[in-house]
Amino acid sequence: MAQSVIEALLKSKIGLDANSIGAEAIASAIYQRMADCGITDIAHYLGKLQVSTQEWEALIDTVIVPETWFFREPESFAFLKHYVLSEWLPKNPQGVLRVLSVPCATGEEPYSIAIALLEAGLNPTNIHIDAVDISNKCLSKAQRAIYSQYSFRGNSQSFQECYFQATKAGYHLCEQVKSMVNFINGNLADPAFLADTPLYDLVFCRNLLIYFDVTTKERTIQVLERLLRPEGLLFVGHAETWLLFKTQLISVRQDSVVAHRKSTGGENVRKNHHPNPQRQSITGKNIDVLNKRHLPKKNNSKFVAQERLNVAPQNPILPIELKVNLLETARALADEGRLDEAVKLCNDYLNQNQVSTEAYLLLGQVQQAMAQNERAAQSFQKAIYLQPTHQEALTHLALLKEHQGNADSANLLWQRIHRLTKDKQF
Ligand SMILES: C[S@@+](CC[C@H](N)C(=O)[O-])C[C@H]1O[C@@H](n2cnc3c(N)ncnc32)[C@H](O)[C@@H]1O
Repeated sequence: MAQSVIEALLKSKIGLDANSIGAEAIASAIYQRMADCGITDIAHYLGKLQVSTQEWEALIDTVIVPETWFFREPESFAFLKHYVLSEWLPKNPQGVLRVLSVPCATGEEPYSIAIALLEAGLNPTNIHIDAVDISNKCLSKAQRAIYSQYSFRGNSQSFQECYFQATKAGYHLCEQVKSMVNFINGNLADPAFLADTPLYDLVFCRNLLIYFDVTTKERTIQVLERLLRPEGLLFVGHAETWLLFKTQLISVRQDSVVAHRKSTGGENVRKNHHPNPQRQSITGKNIDVLNKRHLPKKNNSKFVAQERLNVAPQNPILPIELKVNLLETARALADEGRLDEAVKLCNDYLNQNQVSTEAYLLLGQVQQAMAQNERAAQSFQKAIYLQPTHQEALTHLALLKEHQGNADSANLLWQRIHRLTKDKQF
């Protein structure tokens, strides 16, 4: 009983959805705090929590997932540089680029942004970076800016040599980069979050929305949209892109990264002028290359079912073209947000092609979008079983494990991915 009250408080105060990390993880954080406070009765602990701001902060520090590292999802930083040089700078040659990193955890993300912008040739006086997190403990670590090798996770060592000094205590970030980030304690689940702040050209909000309950997710996306300048870009985590399906935000893609622009009503004009405008895709594929003429209309889902029923039993061996279309249709349905239908088509496809890595990968992505995390993990595992070096499947599974709070499994997978990346480099 007391645990469910604490779960409800965590949800209402910081947006944490107990299902995202699991009731066991929350229980373990509560029991750890109880032990630290010398309390054995959970009802007694709840009483303390209700009157002590300090205890709230301590519980938040224990329950949050502060997992982060430098240049996480490195393609996002390449996209950031490209955007700044090709679009922002020509329009604002003397301007100050305003960037928000929320949540910033222990600082690796905002410092990576600062380094990327310096490397793009921007002058520090033309850069303003705000970095927000709910955890004061994380923020203190961020302000200290001394990191272990773990914060680099095998990413390019060249920036480590340029911007850090190795000491016995760890890698000290240089003063120039340190001074570029302004750390702020804040709660993104608060609708009045940064209400009086000037708008931002770039907002990074990665790997937090996945922990929020549905209402907080929706409200937060509106907050992020409010904070963004019309021409600015919002970056979310790879596993969070699908959350922006139903918003007014316009998706733009560079390679495997999707970023989002605020809709101003003039997006047709902008779309026509943008070098590479694409609709967003749950599956990370460019959906504009899919043959959408074959995609049944939304209000015609009976037709999909009928078509499927007719196809599968009567054609035990499907012609290759039809097989590909089935999977492509599933992908396009997923990108349309028609997740149930996509799952059915994936399963139909898998009935015909039990060794299709791509189909298991797609199925896993759709199941994850439906918050069926256990099933999604199984699908990614099947994809990896069929193709042990499949980097995309390994990455999806690592992110999912991280999201489930299973840091050990996630780390093993990241190590495997880094070994693969290294092998490719040499
Ligand atoms: C997984 S880290 C993400 C860090 C970084 N953005 C990244 O992708 O590497 C999640 C962070 O969210 C913070 N957090 C959790 N709830 C929050 C909230 N309601 N408002 C602001 N930060 C929050 C936690 O303190 C934690 O540091």
